[in-house]
Amino acid sequence: MPLLMVLANCAGPQSTFEASGREASAIENLILMTAVGAAFVWLFVVSLLVYAARARREPLSDEQSQRFITWGGVITPTVVLFALLSYAVWSMPATRPWFDRQDADVAIEVTGEQFWWRIRYLDASGAVAFETANDLKLPVDRRVRILLKAHDVIHSFWIPALAGKMDMIPGRTNTLWLEPTRIGSFRGPCAEFCGTSHALMNLSADVLPWEDFEAWRQSRVQMRATRKTAGNAFLVHGCAGCHSLDGTEASGLAGPNLTGLRERKRLGAGAMANTPENLARFIRDPSSIKPGAQMPAFPMIPQDDLRKIVDYLAGEP
Ligand code: CUA
Repeated sequence: MPLLMVLANCAGPQSTFEASGREASAIENLILMTAVGAAFVWLFVVSLLVYAARARREPLSDEQSQRFITWGGVITPTVVLFALLSYAVWSMPATRPWFDRQDADVAIEVTGEQFWWRIRYLDASGAVAFETANDLKLPVDRRVRILLKAHDVIHSFWIPALAGKMDMIPGRTNTLWLEPTRIGSFRGPCAEFCGTSHALMNLSADVLPWEDFEAWRQSRVQMRATRKTAGNAFLVHGCAGCHSLDGTEASGLAGPNLTGLRERKRLGAGAMANTPENLARFIRDPSSIKPGAQMPAFPMIPQDDLRKIVDYLAGEP
């Protein structure tokens, strides 16, 4: 029963054992090979133990014990460990690939914030094409270069189903390459303790067919070029001081970009489902949902205005 419970956790959108990326598959194979090697060593040692306890009654001669140590203590471990090491070294280029800069089909910059993910899609020249937050969209079967940064403290970027883990360190840029091989929705938890809401810092990654990804990317780029005004209540209560809505005068940079918020499945970097009620609760008092969140509470917004803000965000593309 405990084993079943453990194995039940091996599936799902956050599992290394449902590899949906080229790098994740290489890592999965490495885990399985290492487990097989470890099982072999374990079986070997346990059988010797059983043999010693049950079968063997007479002591070994000097020559026999010499041979036993040579084979059991030197040759076997050397062969097994060397085989595992060789496999690990051989698979290194696949588990942590390093393509040329030109080889990327998509370049993205992800910055760890307290406690959310700032996501910037870059254009061919490396400039920011548009910004979003917490919801990563990736094309299937294409090479993606992700530049990892951190704004405040160390975070760690890890979508187990797609690729390995890499730290996001303030003051430097790490580069992670990945290539999703399966369409689907995946989940990436922040993998380095970064403060009180570390456990509520989750990234969602949707892998789409290339055409759908391109259409989404184009629509986001075009949205930046449109000119319209943001919802009045949104502006009056100062939301635009920290949040951006592409194509409007709301251009705050401190908090997550809210363009396309209604399309996101979760609010607050995975903290809760994206429903109007939850959004209203979050605006009223973010730290009751995400302790340590830097957004202040807004208990003073009249109920009517709060509804207007929520309706506006839920209706905006
Ligand atoms: Cu960010 Cu833990």
